[in-house]
Amino acid sequence: MQLFDTVVNRRNSNSVKWDGGELIKSIGFTERFDNDTLPLFIADMDFPVAEPIIQAMQKVIDNKIFGYSIIPDEYYQSIQNWFSRKYNWQIEKQQIVYSPGTVNAINTCVKAFSELGDGIIIQRPSYPPFATAIENNGRTIVDNHLVLDENNQYQFNFEELEIQAQDPKNKLLILCNPHNPSGRIFTKEELRRIAEIGERNNLIIISDEIHGDLIRKNAAFHPLASITNYDHLITLTAINKTFNVAGLHCSNTIIQNEELRKKYETVQGMQSPTPFAIAALIAAYNECDEWLGQLKEYLDGTFEWVDRFLSEQMPQVKYRIPEGTYVLWMDFSGYNLTPQEVHDRIYNKANVVLEDGKMFGKEYEDFQRICLPSPRSLVQEAFVRIAKEFN
Ligand SMILES: Cc1ncc(COP(=O)(O)O)c(C=O)c1O
Repeated sequence: MQLFDTVVNRRNSNSVKWDGGELIKSIGFTERFDNDTLPLFIADMDFPVAEPIIQAMQKVIDNKIFGYSIIPDEYYQSIQNWFSRKYNWQIEKQQIVYSPGTVNAINTCVKAFSELGDGIIIQRPSYPPFATAIENNGRTIVDNHLVLDENNQYQFNFEELEIQAQDPKNKLLILCNPHNPSGRIFTKEELRRIAEIGERNNLIIISDEIHGDLIRKNAAFHPLASITNYDHLITLTAINKTFNVAGLHCSNTIIQNEELRKKYETVQGMQSPTPFAIAALIAAYNECDEWLGQLKEYLDGTFEWVDRFLSEQMPQVKYRIPEGTYVLWMDFSGYNLTPQEVHDRIYNKANVVLEDGKMFGKEYEDFQRICLPSPRSLVQEAFVRIAKEFN
């Protein structure tokens, strides 16, 4: 049995994923949520956190006082070393701004770098909080949607982006790389082209790279800032996904340009991480390489199993094994059912909660997104239950 095969009972732990039934029913994710539900809708792992993180947090508990914290040099050095070691990206200490979560950072960027009514470009299908951050702040969504090629791979629509970027009303592009929900990792060439379009049109680029550490074994990920000198660029990083500590809300926004950084800090206001987040980040970035390597191998194995299962048992489902992230984006249009019928079979009959494609853009109603960072036995049970309803 492997480390990640252990099933941890997360019910009654205030987990959105396992205890959030009433909440997610109220926002329309599902009609059914009970003790038999397999919830694979949220990007939150069911694996225990790496031991060095637990030990570092235990030391904080042993102190018995959890007061306001200053950020020690070691925190910044851990981030600098991580990105230098993994991605050959040299970050200066003053470029790092702590943010209490990546979605929070996106909202801060929207408020700091655009005005009411301005356009903000996203590339659908896209992680729903991008659209929410734009609309809730009274800005306008400009969709430079990705295009599926003949290999079922999403590609940028550069020509359309070029036109949208030229419109002076459009102030920001929110890029997601690795891309959620497709799992696509953009190449250096594609990223350079995006940066060039940004630079030529004075478009600020927000690069959400929160999934950058979670990639398949043969994939390579390049932080946008590591391959361009364009500095109207804000990079969103976090330990949240990589090390399964999303509840600690520990993100770091990297902003090279001083003027943009000052603006961001002013709008964000004073924020400091909890003592738990500080301890966790230092341990994660310095002592958890081996754990992460094992995790990636486990996820690769899960995707290999899912690939075999879908091709044998549900050949009508169209998908691509993602290059990065632990999400799988599945197109159910091959069944010739209505989106509501597909939803009903998965959510109500199989009792597996996923995320309907329409959340990522209204034209994706034939899609479902599943999150797979769970012990393989749970993933297998979910797929077996779903397949039964379609065969
Ligand atoms: C692309 C992307 N950005 C941000 C987040 C959320 O990040 P945080 O928990 O740091 O707010 C997620 C979570 O699924 C995500 O997929």
